[in-house]
Amino acid sequence: MRIKDLVDYQKTYELSVQEPEKFWASIANEFEWSKPFTKVLDWDFNDYSVKWFEDGQLNITTNCLDRHLSSIPDQAAIIYEPNEPGDAAITLTYRELHARVCKISNVLKSQGVQKGDRVCIYMPMIPELAIAVLACARIGAIHSVVFGGFSAQSISDRINDSACKVILTTDGAVRGNKMIPMKETVDDAIALCPSVEKVIVKRRTNTPVSMLDGRDIWWDEAESEAADACEPAIMNSEDPLFILYTSGSTGKPKGVVHTCGGYMVYTAYTFENVFQYNPGEVYFCTADIGWITGHSYLVYGPLLNGAISVLFEGVPTYPDAGRFWDIIKRHQVNIFYTAPTAIRSLMGMGNEFVTNKDLSSLRVLGSVGEPLNEEAWHWYNDKVGHGNCPIVDTWWQTETGGHMISPIAGITPLKPAYATLPLPGVQPILVDENGKEIEGNGVNGNLCIKFPWPGIIRTTYGDHDRCKSTYFATYPGLYFTGDGCMRDEDGYYRITGRVDDVMNISGHRIGTAEVENAINMHTGVVESAVVGFPHDIKGQGIYAYVICEHLPENDSLMRKDILATVTRVIGPIAKPDKIQFVTGLPKTRSGKIMRRILRKVAEGEFGSLGDTSTLLDPGVVEAIISGAL
Ligand code: WTA
Repeated sequence: MRIKDLVDYQKTYELSVQEPEKFWASIANEFEWSKPFTKVLDWDFNDYSVKWFEDGQLNITTNCLDRHLSSIPDQAAIIYEPNEPGDAAITLTYRELHARVCKISNVLKSQGVQKGDRVCIYMPMIPELAIAVLACARIGAIHSVVFGGFSAQSISDRINDSACKVILTTDGAVRGNKMIPMKETVDDAIALCPSVEKVIVKRRTNTPVSMLDGRDIWWDEAESEAADACEPAIMNSEDPLFILYTSGSTGKPKGVVHTCGGYMVYTAYTFENVFQYNPGEVYFCTADIGWITGHSYLVYGPLLNGAISVLFEGVPTYPDAGRFWDIIKRHQVNIFYTAPTAIRSLMGMGNEFVTNKDLSSLRVLGSVGEPLNEEAWHWYNDKVGHGNCPIVDTWWQTETGGHMISPIAGITPLKPAYATLPLPGVQPILVDENGKEIEGNGVNGNLCIKFPWPGIIRTTYGDHDRCKSTYFATYPGLYFTGDGCMRDEDGYYRITGRVDDVMNISGHRIGTAEVENAINMHTGVVESAVVGFPHDIKGQGIYAYVICEHLPENDSLMRKDILATVTRVIGPIAKPDKIQFVTGLPKTRSGKIMRRILRKVAEGEFGSLGDTSTLLDPGVVEAIISGAL
C-alpha cells in the first residue's frame, strides 16, 4: 500500500492503470468490512454512474476508531489547540474520541435521527465538530457540514436542499479577537426550514441564546446522560456518507455526495502516501472542517491511518502572525498542511514572525486549494521548511474526494508551482475546446480525468442530471474538472486556474453567478456582473460591475450597502473587493454578457480587449474603461 521510492511509484502507477480493479481491491482489503465486497467497480461516464466495492458493507467509523482501540487506544487522535494561545490544549485519545463519538451517536438517535436522515452541522473548529461528523457516520446519518462563516440565508438554502432533520451548532464562536454568534444565526436560518425538528447546542462562549422548548437541547447535558457505546450502523459501500455544498458556474451551490466505501479507501490511501505518514507523527492541517480539505485530511484520512491530527480553532494572525509556528513548536508538528493564501499573507507580514521560531520538528509541508505561486513556494520552502522539507502541492477538488495530482513527499522530484504527477489510479488527460485529446508534452489544455477513482463524486444531491451536465457533458466520456492545466516537457502538471465561471478567493470556491444574485438583491441595483481578478494575497479578488436604478449620489455609502447585502446573503467571504458603478454592460446581440472583456478591464488590460464587433453597443466598453481608470 505504501509507495517506497520513485521506481515503486512508477510501477504502482502502471499497475493502477493496467489493472485498476486489482490495484484498488488490494488496498480496500486492508480495511475492516462487515461484509467483504466481491465486485470492485462498475462505471459509465456517458450516462454517469460509478460504484465501488458495491456489495461490500462497512462503517467508516469502525475503521477510524474501533480498529485502533486494540493497538493505540491511548495515543492522541485529535489535539485541540484553542483560539486563545494561553489556554491549555486538549488531547483526545482514540479511546476517548471513540467514547465521545458513541455518546453523541446515542444523543442523535434519541433525538429521532435514523440511518439515511440528513443532519446539518454548523459549528466552529472545536473537537465537537469532528465528533458530530463521526457520530453521524456511525449511525448512518448523512452529514452536511456548513462552514461557520456562511450566512443564515446560505445555511437555510443548504438545509432545505437536502431536508435536514437536525442541526448541531454552538452558542457562539471565537476566532482571533472576534466573537461570532452561531445559535442566533441558526435561529434565523431555520425560521425558513420546515424540515428541522431539533437543534443541538454545544456551549462554547456562554453567549446568552434563546432555547425553544421541545426543539432545542443542550449538547453537554445530553452527552453527559448518554451511554458511551454505540454499535455502528452497517452501511452499504455506496450508501451516502456526506453531502458538501460547493459552488459551480451557475445557480445555487450544489450538494456533492460522497459514499462510504470508496471515500474511505481513497482518503486513507492518499493521506498515507502523499504525506508519507509514519505512525506516531503529529500532523497539522489548518483547513476548516467546513471545507472538503477538513473532511478528508483533518478528520477521515488521518483517523483512518491512526494519525495524530491537530485541530486549531483560531486564525493564523492571532495573537500575531507567528501563531502557526508557535503551534508547530508546541505540539512538535511533523507534517504541516495549509493554503497558499495563508502562506502569502504571512509572507507579507514580515520574516521576523517566522525566522526566530523552532520549526525543527517539521518533515513535510503541504499546500492545497489554489495555485502556489513560485515566490510563495520559495518562501515556504526556505523560511518554514529550511530547505529540508518536501512541499506537496496537492491538486484536487470537493468532487474528487481526495488528492489527485500531487507529489509524494520525499519521493517525487519537485518543481516549484507544479502539482507534479498523477497519483496511482488517476488518469488525467488534457483536451482542447472541442474535446480532442492534446497529446504529448509541453502543452496546455482543459484538465479532464478519463477513468474513475474511488473518491469520485457520485451525484449532486437530489439532482443527478445536474451532476451529469456539470461534469460529464462538456466532454462526453470524461470527467471535466473545470481547471486549465499545462503539461510541461517532463510530463509534469501545473494547474493554471479555473476556466469556468468559478472564482477561487483565498482558496474558497465562489461562483460569479452567486455573487451577482446576492448583489441584485439590493434594492436599487438593476443588474450586475462579477469577475475574478488577480490579487496578491487572495489569489483572486472579486470585481463587481453594478448598474443602479439611479447613479448613486453617495458612492461609498452604496458600496457599503452592497457589501452588507452580500454578507447577509452569502457571508463575508463573498464580499467584492472592487465595485464599479456602470450604466451598461457589454452584451452580445443575444443578451449574453461578454465576461472576457470585463475580466480584461478588471485586470487593468485595456489595450487588448479582443474582438468587440459582436457587441450590441460597443460604446459601453469605452464607458466602462473610463470608469475603471
Ligand atoms: C483549485 C479544494 C492549483 C482548483 C481541495 C480546483 C488548486 C479547486 C489546487 C477546487 C492546487 C485546488 N493547485 N489549484 N494544488 N488545489 N485547486 O473544491 O481550481 O474547494 O478546481 O477543493 O481549487 O476547490 P475545492
